[in-house]
Amino acid sequence: MTVFICNDISIDNMKSHQHFSLKKNNSFAVAATTPVIYYPKNEKELQSLSEITEHEFYILGEGSNTLFVEDKAPVMIKPEFLGIRVEESNHFYDVHVASGENWHSLVCFCIEQGINGLENLALIPGSVGAAPVQNIGAYGVEIADFIESVTWFCFQTNKSVLLSKAQCEFDYRASIFKKSLKNKGIITYVTLRFPKNWQAELSYKGLSCLPKNSKAIDIMDTVIGIRNSKLPDPKLIPNAGSFFKNPLVSPDKFSLMKAAYPKIPYYPQEDGSIKLAAGWLIEVSGLKGYQMNGASVHDQQALVLTNSNAASGASIKKLAEYVQRIVCDRFEISLQPEVRMIAEHGEITLGDLS
Ligand code: EPU
Repeated sequence: MTVFICNDISIDNMKSHQHFSLKKNNSFAVAATTPVIYYPKNEKELQSLSEITEHEFYILGEGSNTLFVEDKAPVMIKPEFLGIRVEESNHFYDVHVASGENWHSLVCFCIEQGINGLENLALIPGSVGAAPVQNIGAYGVEIADFIESVTWFCFQTNKSVLLSKAQCEFDYRASIFKKSLKNKGIITYVTLRFPKNWQAELSYKGLSCLPKNSKAIDIMDTVIGIRNSKLPDPKLIPNAGSFFKNPLVSPDKFSLMKAAYPKIPYYPQEDGSIKLAAGWLIEVSGLKGYQMNGASVHDQQALVLTNSNAASGASIKKLAEYVQRIVCDRFEISLQPEVRMIAEHGEITLGDLS
């Protein structure tokens, strides 16, 4: 039976709020109101949401990769599954983590316990449940490197399934949770496997100066230092990290670019394509530090768009569209957002609603 209580709507006693302002629940700090936000904390509470999920809804983690582009947002489901459990075997540590845990706290917990591997992924904002969705990555490491399995609750069957790493279809800032399973269920637990014979990943240029026998904690501290020097702190200058993904181009296109810009940064991929640095493309297009209606291209890292002066979500989206157009005019490369843009009736992409 569904029980409704004023202001604090309760479905089978699940925590929830009606007419809820999301301003403190998104790292862009833009104003948007949801008709209702639910905080399921266990599988039973998720089962009680089956009717809700037949209509438009959005799964919210810590809101660090989300831009609300209208004053109204859809119904929100914000999982509050908590807990971390470690299993040790001869060669591995298996860490089972609930989706509502904070990502950086997990990284610190592992390093404190002597479980190495996540040090390069320190200080990435967001929740553990959101991390596999966009396969978070930084400084030569991505979460997919450690995923053993993901527990995913299916809204159609009202049951959980265990997905292997292969079934998660991880790719650069992508997974099955952004594609065929999008909006069909919710990640509840993640199991990460760390080999005891840990090897430091120091290939990224900011880390290659560290000694080969560096401790994980020293690598973590260096990563924190790099991030603090390049990326704006969302608590001080609201932002969602990289706004766009780094684009992939064909070898032919890359040859033309390299001839015109000999110093262009590039990263050859296993499939033969070349990944370019979107931040570099934006900077060379003359947009570093560019401002429009309270939204800015960050002046240290052009891939980051910020809410520098009380911008609305719509203004930040307009700036993103402007950046996309100028870069396309100059390089004939269409930057695609990494940040998910949410309107009243669901997810949209750049160019929609304008
Ligand atoms: N660059 C510029 N101008 C800029 C920004 C970058 O010329 O304004 C150049 C840099 O000099 C460098 C290259 O572009 O040669 C790459 O820059 P950087 O190392 O800062 O990394 P990125 O490709 O811009 C990606 C991730 C970041 C991650 C870093 C480090 C994406 C979309 N972004 O950025 O992730 O921290 O690598 O591994 O893949 C995030 O996703 O929110 C995020 C911050």
